Amino acid sequence: DTIRRLDYQPPAWLVPDIALEFDLGIELTKVRATLTVRQNPDAARDQTLHLCGDNLAAMDLLVDGNPAEGWSMSGSNLLLPLPGDAHEVTIETHLHPATNSQLMGLYASNGMLCTQCEAEGFRRIMFFPDRPDVLSRYTVRMKGDRGAFPILLSNGDMTASGEDEDGTHWAEWTDPWPKPSYLFALVAGDLVARRDGFTTMGGRKVDLAVWVRPGDEDRTEHAMRSLINSMKWDEEVFGREYDLDTFNIVAVSDFNMGAMENKGLNIFNTRYILADPDTATDGDFDAVEGVVGHEYFHNWSGNRVTCRDWFQLSLKEGFTVLRDQMFSADMGSEAVKRIEDVRILRAAQFPEDSGPLAHPIRPDSYQEISNFYTATVYNKGAEVIRMMRTMAGPEKFRQGSDLYFQRHDGEAATCEDFVKAMEDGAGLDLSQFRLWYEQAGTPRVNVAMTHDAGSGKVTLEVKQQVPATPGQPVKKPMPIPLKIALFDRGTGTHDGERTLQITKASETFTFGGFAQPPVLSANRGFSAPIQLETEASDADLTFLAASDDDSFARYEALQQLFTRELLGATDSGPNEPRRAAIAEAMGAVIDDTAIDDMMRGELLMLPAINFLIELAAPADPVALHEARERLKAYLGTRLRGRLTALHDRASTVAYSLDAASRGARKVKTQALILLAAADRAETARRAEAQYRAADNMTDRQGALAVMSGLDVPARGELLADFHARYADNALVIDKWFAIQASALRSDVLDAVETLAGHEDFTMKNPNRVRALYMTMAGNPFAFHDASGRGYRMIADLVLKLDPINPQTAARFVPWLGRWRKIEPVRAAMMREQLSRIAAARSLSKDVREQVTKSLDAS
Ligand code: ARG
Ligand code: ZN
Repeated sequence: DTIRRLDYQPPAWLVPDIALEFDLGIELTKVRATLTVRQNPDAARDQTLHLCGDNLAAMDLLVDGNPAEGWSMSGSNLLLPLPGDAHEVTIETHLHPATNSQLMGLYASNGMLCTQCEAEGFRRIMFFPDRPDVLSRYTVRMKGDRGAFPILLSNGDMTASGEDEDGTHWAEWTDPWPKPSYLFALVAGDLVARRDGFTTMGGRKVDLAVWVRPGDEDRTEHAMRSLINSMKWDEEVFGREYDLDTFNIVAVSDFNMGAMENKGLNIFNTRYILADPDTATDGDFDAVEGVVGHEYFHNWSGNRVTCRDWFQLSLKEGFTVLRDQMFSADMGSEAVKRIEDVRILRAAQFPEDSGPLAHPIRPDSYQEISNFYTATVYNKGAEVIRMMRTMAGPEKFRQGSDLYFQRHDGEAATCEDFVKAMEDGAGLDLSQFRLWYEQAGTPRVNVAMTHDAGSGKVTLEVKQQVPATPGQPVKKPMPIPLKIALFDRGTGTHDGERTLQITKASETFTFGGFAQPPVLSANRGFSAPIQLETEASDADLTFLAASDDDSFARYEALQQLFTRELLGATDSGPNEPRRAAIAEAMGAVIDDTAIDDMMRGELLMLPAINFLIELAAPADPVALHEARERLKAYLGTRLRGRLTALHDRASTVAYSLDAASRGARKVKTQALILLAAADRAETARRAEAQYRAADNMTDRQGALAVMSGLDVPARGELLADFHARYADNALVIDKWFAIQASALRSDVLDAVETLAGHEDFTMKNPNRVRALYMTMAGNPFAFHDASGRGYRMIADLVLKLDPINPQTAARFVPWLGRWRKIEPVRAAMMREQLSRIAAARSLSKDVREQVTKSLDAS
């Protein structure tokens, strides 16, 4: 049951049109579909129509109006022999949305009906060639009870509606743009809209609506503003215009992922729509903006040009992530956004690339495609396209993307089509670059610098190595655009940034005119998704941390100092001169009036344990955690005066959403985090004051998160206050669970166990499950508890959640799959839990694939 990329065959039958009729009910929904089917002239002839189904029975099956003959089931799929070239096939299915806990296909959430079809959910609604290269024009007619479902939505524009005598009403929606089944959507329920409008550059007037449950409408302003900004931005930066008269967004509480780009009807997890200052943090506001942009941008990168098959997923996801990153950078601070994106890549994608589930951004095989909605396909995919942009420059890159959209509009395309369009449109030679689509693993690049005082020559010797990954023991050298600058120690300036085009396993670059050895600043702007090693001294790093004009490189120099200190400290204890240098660099960051607080907050952050684990193989996560706490305590003590002054200064800034005010909130919490490690009582006092005075969620949550790590009496009181204050707000109650599961406290696993029995906890809601257990799994102090209890709890969760929601259950397995990076005693316990899952009598395809691969020792 492994699907392979190279086995692709075009579909024998096409479905140019489909008409769907829904008779809606929460318990029972009847669906009738009429498919116009035609032999595909470009495929091998097959007189059998293969229709995918999942958990469906055909209640009625007609061909050209007559009962179908000779059909059969093959597993859950329906095989229908059809003579000739063209027919009309009618099928009826019965669905039970109320019991659909997988949240794929048609399901009920909070009394409303909604759908999720990507990747293979449509086959849970109707028998269909459920593959992205079959594009159809959809007409949808739905009827339902007026009271239960006052609002009826689907893709495209509403073309007719009416009321019937029996208390039901109906609506008909038509989508003129042919689309694959994964982009189908339907929503029916009691919803209210925030409405607005947008006039496209071509003069089309588009009605915009953000639909939510009654009572939530006041929290939709930011989502609507983000949508309008996205529409404008895509016109200006990519020349892409919207193509329907209606654009609807619906927020639902039960959702497996972030959101879905269904044509003209985006469906969102509520957490990426609802935001107001009292209930959403600044980070939540950013996430809303980013995801609203992401789904909107899919209208071109995904919908107008879709994917030929699911191996091409990064064609739409990598490109769309890059587009949403560029959008967010333009809406806020480009420098800060770049640092955030790299932090996410390192925390989520690097571990994937170095572990048993490593795969290229264009995978070669899969068992369950849901398992491939990964940081590799999404975030590394974005980095790969970003490298093309770096090599081409913004104007040429735009010409490449214009050519891509023009060439493939209306088609189901491949990653190769994208690369070819970039070659032809942007004028790049990408023959070697295609390796980024083929090879998994994060390249390790080593740069050694030598200086010859006599000739004034600097030589950089660059070596690269791509680690072996499952199924790819031997790798070819990758093409790597490496941005560098050589700083003069005396003046603190450099003679210009250069992009080195690395193509070989080992090569040298020479530069003249250096009387003194310069300081090397490399991979500026994180120009390539690699692990870089240099021989920079602590003094070099301190220099760069103070004076690099590339803000990412400046951040990176500090991170390297931290990393060196933390990795070294677990073996030989703190390095006094280095700690002092770090404190001095941090002090300079606090004092530097040339940077804003958003950047300052970023620079003050220590590397995450989950990133350090990557570098310290085999890692003792608790030792790393302790080293990190010790460094925090040292810095908190050394910088106490400056940190309290920073906290005081930032505390006087009034709330608004502008950068200065947001920056103030960011440094406030960063200051508390460092101070907490130095002086518990004083920090608890400050945090409690911040909590009580807060007029926004950022300050309140930041303070509570700091408090929740401390052993002080007010801790329980504030947690209870928080719960009571927001008892009726599911998204904030998620925060309440997450804050407790992320606490760096010795009793955190007891707390998680107690919270799992809390009346607000439910396995049915993915946001709630993630708030408690994904947070715990990401808390190394909890997950890697020396007793192995954290591992056991995650395995228990996987086993319990799998029968309810396999897609979400499978997302927890990779945490256990990281055993290779962990010291042997814990690694054995992690494997033991994987084996325990593997031994379960019945497992979903989703969990089975992840567990089997994670245990594989190759
Ligand atoms: N295409 C969606 C996005 O990137 C993700 C949907 C994935 N859904 C799933 N069930 N695998 O926004
Ligand atoms: Zn996407």
